Amino acid sequence: MTGNPRWDDKGPHIMRNGGERSKVLAINGSPRKNGNTATLLGEICKIAWNRGDKVELINLIDLDFSDCMECMGCKKGTECVTVDDMQGIYKKMQEADVIVLGSPIFMDAETGLTKNLIDRTYALLSPRKDGTFDTRLRKGKKAFVVFTCGMNDGEVIYHRLTTRYFDTFVTMLGCKDFRSFIVPGTSTKVNVLERPAAKTVLEEASRFFGAE
Ligand SMILES: Cc1cc2nc3c(=O)[nH]c(=O)nc-3n(C[C@H](O)[C@H](O)[C@H](O)COP(=O)(O)O)c2cc1C
Repeated sequence: MTGNPRWDDKGPHIMRNGGERSKVLAINGSPRKNGNTATLLGEICKIAWNRGDKVELINLIDLDFSDCMECMGCKKGTECVTVDDMQGIYKKMQEADVIVLGSPIFMDAETGLTKNLIDRTYALLSPRKDGTFDTRLRKGKKAFVVFTCGMNDGEVIYHRLTTRYFDTFVTMLGCKDFRSFIVPGTSTKVNVLERPAAKTVLEEASRFFGAE
């Protein structure tokens, strides 16, 4: 077969098309590998894939990683000293040009899986003498974050989450471009792609990936 292979929904979650375009790392913070967040992330990945980007989608639920143990090993040295599956994620985050993160909202916040990931990114911060931090990630990355939630007015109620994630990805981790969205009114009985906000997310994702 020639040309750009099609994204295969049922295929493995690591797909590379050999192109020289951006590396996209998509991270699903839902425990459900076929839930609303995964569906939305899959569509976002398709957009990147179809324009020739290298795309990898990982499900945090498949990985084995602990909470941040507050050992400060990453501040005494230059990297996290906890040996678990986060080591692979750090490497993938470092290699990625674009990080796409999706999480459902559980009990008014991101899932525990997602929060653990974010806590562990503390190891990607290098301390400065004045008590602030510099990112250890290569500069110039882009981040695209999506939350799904059951409440119909979730975009208003959970707006603070998008602000927090701006702080994490831009202020702390040094991403140069950041977008975040909440797709409300999703439940196990709802097809997330039929939610109006999902259409907006996919339109914005097209623009986001298209932008240099
Ligand atoms: C344990 C649990 C807690 C939830 N808490 C909230 C909540 O606080 N606010 C909300 O709007 N939706 C809440 N929901 C609904 C989910 O956010 C929503 O159904 C989401 O789309 C599920 O995503 P998933 O299919 O990717 O797992 C909760 C769902 C579960 C299972």
